Amino acid sequence: MLRIGHRGAAGHAPENTLFSIETAISMGADVVEIDVHASRDGELVVMHDARVDRTTDGTGYLREMTIGQIRQLRIAGNHTVPTLEEVLLAVKGRAELMIELKVRNLGPGVVGLVRSVAPELPVYYASFLHPELIGVRELEPAARTIALLEGVPVSGPAFAVEAQATHAGIGFDSLEKGLVGALQKAGIGVFTYTVDDPRDIAYATSLGVDGLISNYPDRLR
Ligand code: G3P
Ligand code: CA
Repeated sequence: MLRIGHRGAAGHAPENTLFSIETAISMGADVVEIDVHASRDGELVVMHDARVDRTTDGTGYLREMTIGQIRQLRIAGNHTVPTLEEVLLAVKGRAELMIELKVRNLGPGVVGLVRSVAPELPVYYASFLHPELIGVRELEPAARTIALLEGVPVSGPAFAVEAQATHAGIGFDSLEKGLVGALQKAGIGVFTYTVDDPRDIAYATSLGVDGLISNYPDRLR
């Protein structure tokens, strides 16, 4: 079972910073999960929210800011907003990377950057925006893609099959034994997010999921 650090190791460090990513790797995460958006001038940056307000000293939408403006922002602890390129360079050769595409039309830029900066880095492309995963597959036929889902689907694995995904990422509150089994029977790996409490970790483990996504990767033994 893969140990996946959520937004790096967001329980220990400011989320989606290089420091958080370093912390996750130092705690033995097999995979580091991050979130990606694009700046107004097309730079790929790592942040969860569309707006910078919650995690930085600034205000506004990433998509309306230039990379120069984003670089001026400060995150608690005097951290900066990393670019995807910086993250690829930091992670390659040390862990695998799960890149969540937070908005539409990021696929070509993200796949292109991975190819040019870290072609050997094992990557998972994840999204709640399932058409984006099909776009990734068209660009990278062998890509590992994760169809994220919050909720219980009507038709078992159909949502992931339709997204041509190799994996499904199921919200912990929606995790059911039958769904896990049906996905795995269909050849789709199952990850669950976000499991921080030891009881949740134990329960998800008992269902036989293939990967656990946690803000505390050190708890995933
Ligand atoms: O990738 C799983 C998880 O990160 C999705 O939820 O909101 O934390 O990006 P969120
Ligand atoms: Ca995420």
